[in-house]
Order: sequence, then structure tokens, then C-alpha cells
Amino acid sequence: MVVAIACDHGGFPLKALLIEEIRRSGAEPLDLGAFREEPLDDYPDYAIAVGQAIHSGRAGEGILICGSGVGASVAANKLPGIRAGLCHDTFSAHQGREDDDCNVLCLGARVVGPSLAVEITRVWLAAKFSGAERHRRRVDKVRALEKQWKS
Ligand code: RB5
Repeated sequence: MVVAIACDHGGFPLKALLIEEIRRSGAEPLDLGAFREEPLDDYPDYAIAVGQAIHSGRAGEGILICGSGVGASVAANKLPGIRAGLCHDTFSAHQGREDDDCNVLCLGARVVGPSLAVEITRVWLAAKFSGAERHRRRVDKVRALEKQWKS
């Protein structure tokens, strides 16, 4: 599994640690920047990079980090096929995968410390969609919503 990862300047302090965690999980990180702490960069650009990597099949899932995680999740959820969840606790991290089939984890480096961020990432990477009928139905409704609102 390839996991795309990207951050803006607000998320930069966490990115290297989370790349290590992706490797520890047995997955391959695809680092889409930022490659240095550039105070004028914009989180939507990184959300687009991760969304495109998933859309094209270069990555199966992704991680986005900004200062709060909010901007990254708002931007990522505008992209077709992306179900991004902002998770600052391990319960949301695994439930967002098991029930909601999230394919992008968003984190805020100004909200969670490095140890918690690594733990959330570990839990998120290990969790999988349950496939339960009621959850499929709900995710299908989300997909339908995306199609409906495109027009
Ligand atoms: C950048 O300063 C900050 O606004 C951004 O990283 C993020 O927190 C937005 O939600």
C-alpha cells in the first residue's frame, strides 16, 4: 500500500515523524511536500496533491497535516472520491475507517503533540472499512451526494 502524505508550513513539524510511522506500518510513503517550512504556502495545494495521487492510483490513501487540520480536511473533502476525516483521538481514527471508509487522515500539528499524532496515525493505518451493510449504505449516500452536487 502506498500512502501519500503532504503538509503545509503549519503541519511541517509532524511530517517526517508520520513518514516514519507509515514505513513502520509496512506501507510505502509518497511524500508530496512541503519539503521545507515555507510560511506562504497554502494547504489547498497539498490537499489537491494528495487527492490527485489517490485519484490516479499512485496512492491508495493519504495523510494531510496543517496547523489545525481543519483547512486540510475542508479542502480535501471537495475532491471527488476523497473522504477525509480530521482525527485528534484514536477512537475517531479507527471508527472513521471502519464505519465511514475514510481514505484521508487529517491532523493539526498545532493541536496534537508528536506522540499522539504518531499513535493516531498507527491506529488509522491499521483500521479497515468493516463493509457492514449499514455503513456501505451510508457511504453510498455520501457518494451520491458528491455526484448530485457536482451539477
Ligand atoms: C496556516 O497558518 C494555517 O492556517 C493552516 O495550517 C491550517 O491550520 C488551516 O486550517
